[in-house]
Amino acid sequence: MNQHLKNEGLSVDLAGLKLANPTMLASGILGLSAESLSSIVDGGAGAVVTKSVGLKPRRGYPNPTVVQVDCGLVNAVGLPNPGISEFVKEIQEAKKTFDVPIVVSVYGFSAEEYASVAERAVEAGADAVELNVSCPHVKETGLEIGQNPKVLAEVVGKVKNAVKKPVFVKLSPNVTDISEVAAVSVKAGADAVTAVNTVKAMVIDTETATPILSNRTGGLSGPAVKPVAVRCVYEIYETVKVPIIGCGGVTDWRDAVELLLAGASAVQIGTAVALKGPRVFKEVTRGVSAYLKRKGFKSVSEIVGLSHRK
Ligand SMILES: Cc1cc2nc3c(=O)[nH]c(=O)nc-3n(C[C@H](O)[C@H](O)[C@H](O)COP(=O)(O)O)c2cc1C
Repeated sequence: MNQHLKNEGLSVDLAGLKLANPTMLASGILGLSAESLSSIVDGGAGAVVTKSVGLKPRRGYPNPTVVQVDCGLVNAVGLPNPGISEFVKEIQEAKKTFDVPIVVSVYGFSAEEYASVAERAVEAGADAVELNVSCPHVKETGLEIGQNPKVLAEVVGKVKNAVKKPVFVKLSPNVTDISEVAAVSVKAGADAVTAVNTVKAMVIDTETATPILSNRTGGLSGPAVKPVAVRCVYEIYETVKVPIIGCGGVTDWRDAVELLLAGASAVQIGTAVALKGPRVFKEVTRGVSAYLKRKGFKSVSEIVGLSHRK
């Protein structure tokens, strides 16, 4: 376990997954190799989530795939990944290299595909799986599944039957009522939910009058998304009883505390890792720890959902 950050008050239990601190790497940033995941562990993350992996290799979209905008990034990378058969080697290597929990993010084009990828990830050593039912820019997977309650329930149910490790469901903010989608996931067996994936977005080059991303539309991440994530976590907390993992725009300890107060039990960090490097995990954890001490709290769990007090 992450000795340098070992502190009882900071530890978190996510549906049986034990984290030494409440920070996690979000899917899609430095998550494709054991080596890059290891650099995130050295940066102080309490757990790491891999890039989303599917049954077959995928090249993703041609460039440009990422554009920097005010307060964030807009990306449509198109889920590039080597496919689970290749990726199991990285999971096995990661398990030999560090003992921080590794969550494998999984996507598929059918419930069977999700279940089969999840099963192989767990066989290779994944401590939990996170179902990407929220990617806004690839057809027939991701958000197209997360927006359809019947298909979503089937995906979660099949994965739960296939694996004995915790199953997290990553939700999209691009829906009318995110708490309803969370409730469907939990009813189907989700052990925790992650909120949120990117917000559907677009950037147009005014000189050429054309969309910049090769996919035309993409997903917004970074500081601009944080208030959306806080609202989503807050609404989900009022509806379901499973742990919530907050994600979206966390850049410093204050952002993390805000998500915890809204109801998150842990927070994921993505864009800030790309912008600040892996040290962001230690920085955020130290800040959360100082906040708890200053306010007289003994553990992270004491502030989870505190803003719901009437
Ligand atoms: C370049 C990039 C790639 C991403 N790839 C994935 C992915 O493969 N699977 C997934 O579930 N989320 C993916 N995400 C979404 C992030 O995990 C996260 O939900 C989102 O960026 C909001 O968090 P942040 O503001 O901390 O980045 C990606 C985000 C970015 C910026």
